[in-house]
Amino acid sequence: MFLNRLQLWNFRSYENLELNFPLGISLLTGENGQGKTNIVEAIYLLCTGKSHRTNREQDMIAFGRSWTRVRGENRQKDGRHTVDMVLQKGQKRRILVNGLAISRIGEMMGHISSVIFSPEDLNLVKDGPAARRRFMDIELSQVSKQYFHALNEYNQTLLQRNMLLKENGGGAALDVWDELLAKRAEPIIRARRRFCARLAPEAAQAHAYLSSGKETLRCEYKDCTQGADDVEGALLSLLEKNRENDQRRMFTTVGPHKDDLSIHLGDTDLRYFGSQGQQRTATLALKKAELEMMKQDLGEYPLLLLDDVLSELDVTRQKLLLEQLKDVQTIITAAQPAEALRHLDATVFRVKKGKVLEK
Ligand SMILES: Nc1ncnc2c1ncn2[C@@H]1O[C@H](COP(=O)(O)OP(=O)(O)OP(=O)(O)O)[C@@H](O)[C@H]1O
Ligand SMILES: [Mg+2]
Repeated sequence: MFLNRLQLWNFRSYENLELNFPLGISLLTGENGQGKTNIVEAIYLLCTGKSHRTNREQDMIAFGRSWTRVRGENRQKDGRHTVDMVLQKGQKRRILVNGLAISRIGEMMGHISSVIFSPEDLNLVKDGPAARRRFMDIELSQVSKQYFHALNEYNQTLLQRNMLLKENGGGAALDVWDELLAKRAEPIIRARRRFCARLAPEAAQAHAYLSSGKETLRCEYKDCTQGADDVEGALLSLLEKNRENDQRRMFTTVGPHKDDLSIHLGDTDLRYFGSQGQQRTATLALKKAELEMMKQDLGEYPLLLLDDVLSELDVTRQKLLLEQLKDVQTIITAAQPAEALRHLDATVFRVKKGKVLEK
């Protein structure tokens, strides 16, 4: 796929911007604080409905303004897709897909898709399980509306169960919520199992390519039901077993919202025992695997957004990564153009004080 145009109105440091991206690699360069990441953020917003760096949606509205609009025009194999989002202070956001208003955020998924690698991801391996669940959930949501919907339903049910636990310890009503929670957890757990089964060989292959080491990268879904065939039944008994604990702690302590993705290099658990370099290489391999899996699911590569991360990799790995991106539209931000980019055919955009000039 190919995002050929991005338009911003009152978006962070941009009053009005129209950018026409080429196929291949675009490099957004310029000094710190000039607005490079803002552009990546706007693209990611059109892909997922969320910013990659904040949950505070209204922060994206330019200072002193009451609304912002972001519009992207994307070419896929089946034709042109446009996504338009308007955020207005004190109002619900409005989204148009191909010119038609949509009411559910799930309907905007898939019209522009991307894999992002940003400073927030650098600790994907090292951070707590939430980061790795987000990694699974974002990929799955972008390729499957059903997953996105199922995840929302699960989270709503979880919220209600937790509220009940806080209010009065749950009481007899908990039985009903346990059943509903287990039922809604099932599609999440099954989809993540399938995802991880595919991710493992892709990530191992990417890792072998990116590292000179002999050890194999192993990814495994740590699912609360431990791979049970009857997911719903297994979770239901877990909820029963943990009920007292949940009542005491006033939240739900088991379920897919606590699951993890374990990442080992040989026998070493990289989260706890990996060196920084090993963790970075593993993260890069996971991102590369995500890119390949999205290609399989979408029938074409998504965009790749590399926000400020090239400089975090050594030159060898920068080169190895970029060499593999021939058919991927890639948007890179960097204050200093990375060494590996000197030898590649990239279109350079200079970003300065909310203006962008093509060089
Ligand atoms: N809502 C907003 N309205 C106006 N300007 C904003 C808003 N939010 C952020 N900015 C400005 O945007 C700039 C930051 O932009 P951005 O994060 O894109 O910089 P960058 O070029 O990626 O910098 P770095 O190289 O440090 O990563 C800051 O100067 C900040 O003041
Ligand atoms: Mg930045």
